[in-house]
Amino acid sequence: MKISHKHLFAVVYSLLAMSIIVITFLPIPGQLFVRITLDGMYSGYNIRISQVQLTVPREKVFQAVVSDDLHRNKSSYPMVTRTEKVLLSREQKLEKGLAGARAAIRRAGADRRSNLSLISTDNSGYIPAGDIYHNPRLFHQSYMEMEKRFKVYVYQEGEPPIVHYGPCKDIYSIEGRFLHELEHGVGRFRTNNPNAAHVYFLPFSVTWMVKYFYTPLTNDLSPLRRFVSDYVRVVSSRYPYWNRTHGADHFMLACHDWGPHASEGNPFLYNTSIRVLCNANTTEGFNPRKDVSLPEIHLYGGKVSPKFLSPPPENISRPHLAFFAGGLHGPIRPILLHHWKNRDNDVLVYEYLPKYLDYDSFLLSSKFCLCPSGYEVASPRIVEAIYAECVPVILSEKYVLPFSDVLRWESFSVQVDVSDIPRLKEILSAIPENKYRKLKESLRAVRRHFTLNHPAKRYDVFHMILHSIWLRRLNVRLG
Ligand SMILES: *[C@@H]1O[C@H](CO)[C@@H](O)[C@H](O)[C@H]1NC(C)=O
Ligand SMILES: *[C@@H]1O[C@H](CO)[C@@H](O)[C@H](O)[C@H]1NC(C)=O
Ligand SMILES: *[C@@H]1O[C@H](CO)[C@@H](O)[C@H](O)[C@H]1NC(C)=O
Ligand SMILES: *[C@@H]1O[C@H](CO)[C@@H](O)[C@H](O)[C@H]1NC(C)=O
Ligand SMILES: *[C@@H]1O[C@H](CO)[C@@H](O)[C@H](O)[C@H]1NC(C)=O
Ligand SMILES: *[C@@H]1O[C@H](CO)[C@@H](O)[C@H](O)[C@H]1NC(C)=O
Repeated sequence: MKISHKHLFAVVYSLLAMSIIVITFLPIPGQLFVRITLDGMYSGYNIRISQVQLTVPREKVFQAVVSDDLHRNKSSYPMVTRTEKVLLSREQKLEKGLAGARAAIRRAGADRRSNLSLISTDNSGYIPAGDIYHNPRLFHQSYMEMEKRFKVYVYQEGEPPIVHYGPCKDIYSIEGRFLHELEHGVGRFRTNNPNAAHVYFLPFSVTWMVKYFYTPLTNDLSPLRRFVSDYVRVVSSRYPYWNRTHGADHFMLACHDWGPHASEGNPFLYNTSIRVLCNANTTEGFNPRKDVSLPEIHLYGGKVSPKFLSPPPENISRPHLAFFAGGLHGPIRPILLHHWKNRDNDVLVYEYLPKYLDYDSFLLSSKFCLCPSGYEVASPRIVEAIYAECVPVILSEKYVLPFSDVLRWESFSVQVDVSDIPRLKEILSAIPENKYRKLKESLRAVRRHFTLNHPAKRYDVFHMILHSIWLRRLNVRLG
């Protein structure tokens, strides 16, 4: 049966108005039982759901039980009317589904003998395998559970260009591409029924906030924070969902360097919600347990370079050991340029590439591509290197790499400490040929996870981002 949201809200609000709300905590089977008794409820206070200050441990299931009798006997379960039963069973069903997903994922992880090639429910052709994953069985199971169940509600409030719209070209393009895919794409994961959702998306673009609200050179980010604060205020007063968990099942997404600053506009958004950020800098509050690291994908003119549209030929010649070209941004690049700029014939480091040289061709003719952080930790060079099958050399500090909840970055990249930059050539030359070949094979294998498709395809970057959000919502760790 399809029930219009308006109708459901009307029911919710009229029940709120009657102020007869009892909140009970029910356990997921097999988990700790948590019951929070709200004093006052039975002694005749009128209590609104919004006034109930709950700290909800993310693993615990919560549930609003709507009662029509304040003077009910505490130990007996409330009687519910038919409409209320619909509301109840929706949430119960959602949480039961998630509990089922957790259990299935744990089972898949525990069953060492499970043989993925026997799983026939997956007819897409791709089954995660190999050492690019921490645990391919867990990932596969979790991905299938996500496809089976995961539902995202996108708040309708707000208007373009700041909301429901984002950049689809240049360095922050992933903001617009993700938003567009979720709002207008194949739509498997989106629900128009907020009561059927596992997570709630705040669909604003920090990049456009900067473009329209920021006065250049002022360093005054308060307009960004104000917008975010207002947005949360609006959705939390119009809908019951934000207050229910203090935003723990809500997410925002920003590739702009100032994403973390904008999220300070609401303390719960910053501390409790899922923030999907390119600027995944742990010293700027990025918390990998709840936040998601977003890959930066530079789309010049809105497109992937034609040279990177398909994997390069395996036998392509790579005469250069390592390559970098880029400006003197942030704390790490000055060190790199200081030691290597115009110094070596094998480690090619340019500040700005001369116009007559082609950047993409260098990626395709080098074995290793240096990916130092710039003004912020993420670098679009990482994804470019993956496309070019040039082994990324990660030069960063306090950076949580994208999809590191699933992917073993050490299988397809090399991490070099900033303090070892002077020894770069020595370190890279010492990597044996067979190790290098394995790194390159793995690069080819992870490519699909960093590929933008329009419309999105299974296991591509859109789905990987969604999967990271799904894991945060499940609050389970893989691997
Ligand atoms: C409340 O429930 C308890 C246990 O079920 C019962 O002993 C008691 O008589 C009930 N009280 C009222 C007022 O119904
Ligand atoms: C998995 O199943 C396939 C097909 O039945 C079989 O060829 C393969 O040997 C099995 N692998 C393991 C590790 O059992
Ligand atoms: C959520 O909480 C805020 C602040 O406590 C309150 O202003 C708002 O009305 C609440 N929302 C709902 C839907 O009750
Ligand atoms: C996050 O929580 C910490 C500790 O409670 C608090 O000091 C901090 O101000 C919060 N962050 C924001 C942006 O509100
Ligand atoms: C690479 O292999 C392709 C086909 O296998 C062949 O046509 C091409 O000449 C080879 N190129 C080099 C540089 O060896
Ligand atoms: C990460 O954040 C810290 C603290 O704000 C800052 O000092 C550092 O430069 C940042 N890292 C990068 C690469 O931007």
